[in-house]
Amino acid sequence: MSIDTIQAYYSARAREYDRVYLKPERQTDLRNIEHWLPSVFKGHYLLEVACGTGYWTQFLAPVVQALLAIDASPETLAIANERVQISHVQFVIGDAYHPPVREDDFSAAFAGFWLSHVPRERLGFFLHQLHASLKQGARVVLLDNRYVEASSTPISEPDASGNTYQVRRLEDGSTHRILKNFFTEQELRGAVSASASQVRFHAWQHFWALEYVLA
Ligand SMILES: C[S@@+](CC[C@H](N)C(=O)[O-])C[C@H]1O[C@@H](n2cnc3c(N)ncnc32)[C@H](O)[C@@H]1O
Repeated sequence: MSIDTIQAYYSARAREYDRVYLKPERQTDLRNIEHWLPSVFKGHYLLEVACGTGYWTQFLAPVVQALLAIDASPETLAIANERVQISHVQFVIGDAYHPPVREDDFSAAFAGFWLSHVPRERLGFFLHQLHASLKQGARVVLLDNRYVEASSTPISEPDASGNTYQVRRLEDGSTHRILKNFFTEQELRGAVSASASQVRFHAWQHFWALEYVLA
């Protein structure tokens, strides 16, 4: 089975994507994160990377000064646009590896469930590009899954670069082989150590978040 691009897979999955937020065992964690995350970004000019269907955007939009959300998939963006209709929020097609540059740089950035789709060999490049689009002192939160036996889709043996993969099935019966990495706290801290201060690692049962300030 060939490896799907992350964008093509999520375009195909767009209409059924939000069901992932209905998994019963994840509800407590989700309510906790939905409560915590907006408090980090109150009053900020926020760049949201790989916003998908706008699940997290809906909680962030009411507290930020302005928000630009990018995603590579027109299909997920169409759902996000329907879901969040607030004048200071803009959704645009964009590439996470080449985030938009704004004259008035972003004071914060958020990426939900994106980092796990970044190949290990591109992690440094992704972070470098993200940080280049932010103001000094910007607040950053990267949120993603922890691997939980019996809840997470099983992962493959690592490839030569250490990347792991999942085989996922969509409603139409199609199967997709997707890159999905589960970085450790140590790896995440190491990846930002040269460019960040006030690094905090938050762990819930099913999720983690790395929160830091761009030095
Ligand atoms: C796991 S979903 C996360 C969506 C959303 N952030 C959330 O937490 O619900 C990953 C998203 O990455 C998007 N994506 C894939 N490749 C991308 C790229 N190169 N640049 C920006 N977005 C990309 C997909 O279209 C998909 O919406």
